[in-house]
Amino acid sequence: MANMETATFETELSLFKYDNLEQLPASYRELTEADRTRRIEADRTRRIEAALDELGDDVVILGHNYQRREIVEHADFIGDSYALSKRAAEADAEYVVFGGVTFMAESADIITDDDQTVVLPCMEASCPMAGMAEALQVDAAWEQITAADPASEIIPITYMNSYADLKAFCAEQGGLVCTSSNAHKAFEWAFERGDKVLFLPDKHLGENTAHRLGMEDSIAEWNPWDPEAKDADELEDAEIVLWDGYCQVHERFTADHIAQVRDEHPEANVVVHPECRREVVEAADVVGSTATITEVVENADPGETWAIGTEIHLAKHLDRWHDDVNVVPLCGDACMDCDAMRQIDPNYLTWVLEELAAGREHNVIEVAPEEKELAGLALDRMLEL
Ligand code: 13P
Ligand code: SF4
Repeated sequence: MANMETATFETELSLFKYDNLEQLPASYRELTEADRTRRIEADRTRRIEAALDELGDDVVILGHNYQRREIVEHADFIGDSYALSKRAAEADAEYVVFGGVTFMAESADIITDDDQTVVLPCMEASCPMAGMAEALQVDAAWEQITAADPASEIIPITYMNSYADLKAFCAEQGGLVCTSSNAHKAFEWAFERGDKVLFLPDKHLGENTAHRLGMEDSIAEWNPWDPEAKDADELEDAEIVLWDGYCQVHERFTADHIAQVRDEHPEANVVVHPECRREVVEAADVVGSTATITEVVENADPGETWAIGTEIHLAKHLDRWHDDVNVVPLCGDACMDCDAMRQIDPNYLTWVLEELAAGREHNVIEVAPEEKELAGLALDRMLEL
């Protein structure tokens, strides 16, 4: 048994926590109010399974590592954003139901065939970081950044955590998409073709990637809310320009959390996500995507202790899945769940599946055709890395 205290792990904290059940018909909302009992949960599970039986091969469920237990236990595939985008590309089911956030479902819609339909159980599941780089804002910034160094070829790279219009913009300007598992390869790809990289929207992933490539002395930060603050010389000198976006879940981790966990568990290894601040990544033993975090715990020897610096649901899953490993959340009670991810309430899953089984589609994610082709090109460039 993992000797972690369940009571601590069941504490779910979030800065902006809310459940939005407004789109649900009343009978499904009531299911949530009553779902504290095991009997009600068992009933909901039975309903989900019945709908899945009826839909058979017509549906595939993809579940991101940060989804709740009640979602991942129904997923055909669980993984990081990169693995799920590959699964979406390979899927031949008519319906791809995405347990994740809007930008992931959009990418699935871009990658799947035109006769496949992508469903996001709750439309409120939007990653705040993806919203920090809006295409209009990026257009304006691009003019200023390119004007500061007209002699250089600048390649824009957007993190997967961005909307389709920004992915399309990057393709149009000769760039591509990356996830946390292949950002270094995307940077290398870009430097083979150009002189500079503009990386959006996560400055921490960008900075951590620059360090991985030994380019940490060549960074300038671009503040989209105060573009005049950046002087043109600094932009001209930098090889990597980082958009000032961040993930509030991962920014919360500090180097003190690592010191504290090492104090309490001197034998602990620490693994963190590259969306964490630089000093946190420097103090950790391993850094990697949610797939890497999953793998290090899977490959741990019995009795090892791993402190997990990422969204709390993944730490909870790893603890449940690996009884022989001591899994501890890096910042204890202060570890956050992602409010966007948690919008995928299991009652929404029940609703969309029962409706699909009855021949009715809800919450279909459809990327505008004018963006689809270019955004698809940016994703294909990533999948070929
Ligand atoms: P991964 O690509 O590592 O799954 O991360 C996605 C994400 O949103 C992390 O916050
Ligand atoms: Fe977005 Fe952060 Fe949530 Fe990932 S954990 S989906 S980056 S808000």
